[in-house]
Amino acid sequence: MGGNPTVNLTFPDVHTAVLTLDAVGTSANILSQSVLEEISHYLDELEGRVDLQGLVIRSGKPGMFIAGADLREFMTALEGPPAKTVEMCHRGQQLFSRLSRGPYVSVACIDGICVGGGTELACWCDRRIASSHPKTEIGLPEVKLGIFPGWGGTVRLPRIIGLGNAVEMITSGESVTAEDALRMGLVSMVAEPDHMLSAAIRLVQLEFANGGFRRDRQRWQGPIQIGDTELAFLGATASAVIQQQTQGQYPAPSAALETMLESASLDADAACQLEAAGVGKLFGSEVNRSLLNVFFITDRNKKDQGVAVASSRPTNLQTVGVIGAGIMGAGIAAANLKREFSVVMTDASSDYLARGARNVLEEVSFDRRTKSANAGRMLEFAPRLRSASDLAELSSCDLVIEAVVENPQVKQQVFQKLESLVRQDAILASNTSTIPITVLSQTLQYPERFCGIHFFNPVRSMKLVEVIRGPRTSDATIATAVAHVKKLGKYPVVIQDGPGFLVNRLLFPYMNEALVLLAEGGPVESIEKAAKKFGMPMGPLELYDMVGMDTALFAGGIMRDAFPDRMIDSPILASLVAAGRLGRKSGRGFYSYQNKKQKREFDPELLTTIGPHVQPVTPSLPNDLLTNRLFMPMLLEATHVLSAGLVRDARDVDLSLIFGIGFPPFKGGLLFWADRLGITRILEMLKPLAAYGARFAPTEFLQDLVRRNASFYSHSTAGD
Ligand code: NAI
Repeated sequence: MGGNPTVNLTFPDVHTAVLTLDAVGTSANILSQSVLEEISHYLDELEGRVDLQGLVIRSGKPGMFIAGADLREFMTALEGPPAKTVEMCHRGQQLFSRLSRGPYVSVACIDGICVGGGTELACWCDRRIASSHPKTEIGLPEVKLGIFPGWGGTVRLPRIIGLGNAVEMITSGESVTAEDALRMGLVSMVAEPDHMLSAAIRLVQLEFANGGFRRDRQRWQGPIQIGDTELAFLGATASAVIQQQTQGQYPAPSAALETMLESASLDADAACQLEAAGVGKLFGSEVNRSLLNVFFITDRNKKDQGVAVASSRPTNLQTVGVIGAGIMGAGIAAANLKREFSVVMTDASSDYLARGARNVLEEVSFDRRTKSANAGRMLEFAPRLRSASDLAELSSCDLVIEAVVENPQVKQQVFQKLESLVRQDAILASNTSTIPITVLSQTLQYPERFCGIHFFNPVRSMKLVEVIRGPRTSDATIATAVAHVKKLGKYPVVIQDGPGFLVNRLLFPYMNEALVLLAEGGPVESIEKAAKKFGMPMGPLELYDMVGMDTALFAGGIMRDAFPDRMIDSPILASLVAAGRLGRKSGRGFYSYQNKKQKREFDPELLTTIGPHVQPVTPSLPNDLLTNRLFMPMLLEATHVLSAGLVRDARDVDLSLIFGIGFPPFKGGLLFWADRLGITRILEMLKPLAAYGARFAPTEFLQDLVRRNASFYSHSTAGD
């Protein structure tokens, strides 16, 4: 074994062995090959002991049982043949199944996070206890990586909690809480973290005496008790739910369902064979690789400080000021309040301030079960939210985020006043979506402590935050902004100031191309379908309706001024604005929303407005052509961003698009997708598009990649 062992063996009483997992120098216990070997070694030793009544498996880390298998080891196995994967599954199954074969009762003490391989290990134990620690969750999230559990999860879980519950947990990949686990029989009890070990020892004594665990061993070794009609009904309903959620683009949930339905009539050993074969088919697939990439770029972001120099230690913030209590200000205030920060919120209008404060409290106290604000929770949060009509009340804030109207003069005035009020070490940030940070910093006395912190709408659900560096922003400011954004549970991506920052800069060429296609006679449905088939959450025209035509027109103007060589001017947006068709907010845009539920509907009157600017409809445009027309401009713009050094690398571009605009995770990110196709192939795809204009010309950056036989990801620093 060597190195720093993770597992250690103790005997709190003569009849009970305890294996404690506590990986050295890290916050998570991971089931790497070496940890599995350690467990195997201890089982060899313990299985021969006839004096033992129980084996307890626990973690030495409060709030963290086991965070799953080692995904970095998985990555190295990706290139192997399916037979290797099947063998890897069998080895795991065989090791864990020893927990339900030993001469003692095995009990898993789940205190905190228990996912993936950790849950499979726990399921092979005879009994499980969960702790009341708020972090306790039990889940099998493998489908989120494009595979399904392969160490016996699909075999043991349905036998313990019933096929219906297991199908739901495994095909959704969602975890359950300790209470839910108790309700469905996944755990025998919920105990206080400090009392878990003694509770486990008592359970061992009880089970050993009454032999209950032996009866379950026998039962769980056989097929699942379920009638044919019930099985058929479960299959039909579950596959309908899966189809609706995955749109057929994520194969793992359906494959997991099929495997579980088929193996229900088999004994556990045969079911394990089927499970391993199923995982072998998914492992290494495009979707699996893409989702692993999303996992790794997200994981890198969590560890990233946002600055190259690690010496810029972030300052710890306590009180956050928010100026502007509108849509964004209220959202930002709520995000801070939820994560235990004190918030002072101001607004020029006392009515808007009162409404904003109400919105903030309603959001932070929202109860998902009752779908309404919880009065008790509101009272708990209220003391940490201060509404102030005077900017002077922001004087004690460590960070102030401005979210007032999108007007450079108004913002500059706000910052000038603010600078005279706050401490010299307080950080100032703007949530502007279009005004250059450079412009806003021009009138500042201390521009080094100023940056952009650009949240996306709705703040509640959008994970991406752009942290924008102005020409004089200091490393310390960036490091503090990045650390703070992470504390809000979001992904900060640092970008140098420039038109559209990152996300809007890449989004605009794509959205604009939709207008060009429309003008050429592209049917609305075909354009929307091409984007959705590619995996976007909605079509570009529907997105215009969400953003608002006036906002899009304004932002588009900025992009056109900045990059006139490749941004086409389309009169369509201006015509819609002139007709008052601003999108969702006015009830009509490309679609109409003027029905009871404000649902999107085809609007025959659209043509009256945009008719003069569009050619007669050409119904036969091939889907591939539409897809390439939409996404190649986005890809080419990304090469401009990279060659200008605006973001660190391709991984940051991909993370931003996935969490900023919903770029399909099953494609792994725009540049990951391009790499998988191959840069040479991308150049080939661009060739026929040259006829549509210079904006489709391959950039120097792309050509250089081909010359060097490089890819976007090889060009960038992995950092992991
Ligand atoms: P909003 O119109 O909902 O709210 C703006 C608030 O600022 C209003 O309550 C207004 O009374 C207040 N205000 C105006 N002048 C002020 C001043 N001098 N001092 C204090 N308060 C003042 O606007 P929204 O949508 O919340 O946008 C705010 C900022 O966030 C803008 O810079 C916008 O570009 C940016 N943003 C907006 C997004 C969106 O989707 N709405 C997304 C990302 C950024």
